[in-house]
Amino acid sequence: MGTLEGKTALVTGAASGIGRAVAARFATEGARLLVADRNAEGLALVASGLGARAFAYDAAIPGDAARMAAAAVATAGRLDILVNVAGAYHRAHFALLATADWERILRVNLTAVAETCQAALPALLAARGVIVNTASTAAVAGIAYAAPYAAAKAGVVALTRTLAAEFAHEGLRVNAVAPGRVRTAIAAGLAPLADAREGLARHPAKLAGFAEGAEPEAVAGVYAWLAGPDASYVTGQLVLADGGWSAG
Ligand SMILES: NC(=O)c1ccc[n+]([C@@H]2O[C@H](COP(=O)([O-])OP(=O)(O)OC[C@H]3O[C@@H](n4cnc5c(N)ncnc54)[C@H](O)[C@@H]3O)[C@@H](O)[C@H]2O)c1
Repeated sequence: MGTLEGKTALVTGAASGIGRAVAARFATEGARLLVADRNAEGLALVASGLGARAFAYDAAIPGDAARMAAAAVATAGRLDILVNVAGAYHRAHFALLATADWERILRVNLTAVAETCQAALPALLAARGVIVNTASTAAVAGIAYAAPYAAAKAGVVALTRTLAAEFAHEGLRVNAVAPGRVRTAIAAGLAPLADAREGLARHPAKLAGFAEGAEPEAVAGVYAWLAGPDASYVTGQLVLADGGWSAG
């Protein structure tokens, strides 16, 4: 029997990468799945493969994440687990960063996560459920050219701890995973930046395997553990799944 048997889980960002791997792992663990993403086509493929209900939304549009979460909860009639994985990266020299890009990255990675948590909150409280958010190593160490992304992910860590403290007495657990480098579309889509200073970003080549990164499946189990009964006494925590990047 899977560790998430009988649980209903909503996974955002499930059309690709880490979110898709988390959804697949949760299905293996017996969860009933609701999946959400901006990429409706990719989402439909994942949903049909997993027997999940699909909810297209755009986290960049104010209120759309809340609409999506409310629709998912209404469809399922309950929610035990919310996993926020959807996210976007923007690489730029800070001196040249446009305010519109700052606001878009903050909205997609942080504000929409808060909106999703808020909309799902009544159902999660009713179920004495779990939230697992997605931060990044960028939240805990300086990474050049990543200002809005890093600020948003640090905000996700703060949001996670705040909600954990606010709702612990009501049985809701809230944790976050900080993946290190994972081989996904986000990581592959980062074009080289003109005039970037070599070696300025923290890329410790001394760590075996770090340059290549991990497959999304390598971090999916961390989400499953945090969502499951073996983590029943774990809340307000940031779990780094980074192959040792932050250790040395
Ligand atoms: N890949 C890495 O190295 C890495 C490292 C640390 C953290 N992360 C985080 O992991 C999460 C998943 O990223 P990934 O690496 O799997 O990349 P990915 O690009 O494969 O997945 C991101 C998903 O989010 C969706 N998305 C993007 N913008 C959206 C929007 N406006 N509305 C709704 N959905 C949207 C995309 O369609 C995609 O399916 C992100 O939050 C990312 O910041 C990734």
